[in-house]
Amino acid sequence: MAKVTFLGHSCFLLEGGGKSLLIDPFLTDNPTASISAAEVSCDYIIVTHAHRDHFGDTLDIAKRNGAIVIANFEIATYCAAQGLEIHPLHIGGGASFPFGRAKLTIAHHGSSFPDGTYGGSPAGVTLTLGDRKIHHAGDTALTKDMELVGDEGIDLAMLPIGDNFTMGIDDAVRALDLIRPSQVIPMHYNTFDLIAADPAVFSAKAQAKGVECSVLTPGESLEI
Ligand code: NI
Ligand code: MN
Repeated sequence: MAKVTFLGHSCFLLEGGGKSLLIDPFLTDNPTASISAAEVSCDYIIVTHAHRDHFGDTLDIAKRNGAIVIANFEIATYCAAQGLEIHPLHIGGGASFPFGRAKLTIAHHGSSFPDGTYGGSPAGVTLTLGDRKIHHAGDTALTKDMELVGDEGIDLAMLPIGDNFTMGIDDAVRALDLIRPSQVIPMHYNTFDLIAADPAVFSAKAQAKGVECSVLTPGESLEI
């Protein structure tokens, strides 16, 4: 069993097996964040790509908590240079951790840091927590590679639906056919005007395909 808390945008706190993982901790300057960077605690931080709205408060939160940053080699190396403890991975590679397993998957997107520093390839991440498999797609276009993610048997998927920079609602619904999760949580919408989307529309289309959809407001949790 794992507890999944949505903190706004693409940021989630996952708790299971006595460990906590924070994904894409964009809290400062996030108008929808339910908690401040100074309040959140975690053992690990997973960063899908280096864009500001995902890398976010990684440095501050990792330093304060002594958290280990899991990310692609380029982002991990950037964090190590700032004195953080890291575990570098890269696309297609996974590793075992005290919480379970993390594997980076293909995402079609960009990954430069706000200052232009190269941030490697963007990623999604497939996590094994206990007997549950969770896939956070990061920022991505719809891609046939999602079918390979689905072959692993996904219990819960977090998918961007905000359009403009990532999949919109219709492509996210098509992604459900490839990833085949039992349950889905929409993310990466309504944080900014450019990514305005109605999660109720996505939810109705997901439910019509037999996928349980949980639209979480920032701060809300579910257990899987
Ligand atoms: Ni991005
Ligand atoms: Mn983004």
